[in-house]
Amino acid sequence: MTFSLHQVTPPESLDGPDAEEFLAYVAVRNAVEADILGTDLLTPDASELLPEFRSNPTRRRTHLAATVGGETVGRAMITTRPHTPGAGAYLTVDVLPAHRRRGIGTALLDASEAAARAVGETVFKVSREHSAATPGPRIAAPTGFGDVPQADAGVQLLLRRGYVLEQVMRISLLDTHGLVDRLEALRSSTPPLGDGYRVHGWQGPTPEDRLDDVAALRTRMSVDAPMAGLQAEPDPWDAERVVAHDQRVASTGHVVVTSAVEHVPSRALVGFSEIVVRPGHPAATQEDTLVVRDHRGRRLGLRLKIAAAQHVLDAFPHVEAVATWNAEENRPMLDVNEAMGFRPIGLEGGWQRRG
Ligand SMILES: CC(C)(COP(=O)(O)OP(=O)(O)OC[C@H]1O[C@@H](n2cnc3c(N)ncnc32)[C@H](O)[C@@H]1OP(=O)(O)O)[C@@H](O)C(=O)NCCC(=O)NCCS
Repeated sequence: MTFSLHQVTPPESLDGPDAEEFLAYVAVRNAVEADILGTDLLTPDASELLPEFRSNPTRRRTHLAATVGGETVGRAMITTRPHTPGAGAYLTVDVLPAHRRRGIGTALLDASEAAARAVGETVFKVSREHSAATPGPRIAAPTGFGDVPQADAGVQLLLRRGYVLEQVMRISLLDTHGLVDRLEALRSSTPPLGDGYRVHGWQGPTPEDRLDDVAALRTRMSVDAPMAGLQAEPDPWDAERVVAHDQRVASTGHVVVTSAVEHVPSRALVGFSEIVVRPGHPAATQEDTLVVRDHRGRRLGLRLKIAAAQHVLDAFPHVEAVATWNAEENRPMLDVNEAMGFRPIGLEGGWQRRG
């Protein structure tokens, strides 16, 4: 049976009849992700995705669906950032396992690249989970750290289309069972913080008196996170963007737990770490952690992670596991995570094609 592609617009709400095709689109996304990871522990609800999948002033998102006889069997998402032209477009393509090998994936990737070109982006990036269980030869990342299975369908499609593997991310999971004792042991083996630094914490939106600091940290994150050979441009944040970001995250129903470290002499925040809690869901997500360059080497990253994890244990006892994504070459961060008890559960390839 032939397939056709059309654009999907995220609806105003999930209750109306126009939500149907968006829900079908999300179902494809989630089914493919669970199939690759072998678990639905991290599967988001449509209500969590809706605010993220809408376009906003700093992130434009286009969604395509592939249908066969009225059934949605594939989807693609194109993400560009109008603020940072030239930084490239992120593309992602999913096809349900029962409908593969009929050209749908290729058609969705073609249409995604065309949509990116139409807004002036000629660097195409794909950040994609690959099944860790696929046997056979591996393709190594040029960073020297991490590899992906050559026989994986996504790997094959991307290689055929001229994409180059630039980076491998490790997906890890932290079991909260027994974590309280592991955190205590880490705390007692970590040298004291001293008078120069003070750790703060909050839950929910950024406190008003820290908006400028957090904007500066998020701007640093856009250039300081290891990106291997992936195209990136500095992404400037200001207080207004932090407020808009916090509001959008709150509208997904998520609660962000933040720990931050203040450099006491300058009163500036010089690092932060965030864990996103999904009320009612057993899995939380460790998001950004950053210590700005001048203040590294003092175990501040470990302190920040311990503080955020402790906050989650105290305030959200329903959380059973915390998932995180790290560049395989980011040894200092992996050291911190491994010390806390994070264990690898999967991998993600960072691919790029200069079109
Ligand atoms: C990769 C994926 C999108 C391909 O979808 P599809 O509809 O099967 O794609 P096509 O029919 O256009 O196949 C294109 C090429 O992909 C590769 N491919 C697809 N399935 C494959 C498999 N099971 N094993 C090895 N290669 C495969 C082949 O090179 C294939 O070309 P061929 O059939 O001429 O040999 C689909 O397998 C999928 O959703 N995988 C999980 C998500 C993913 O990895 N997405 C790609 C990166 S965004």
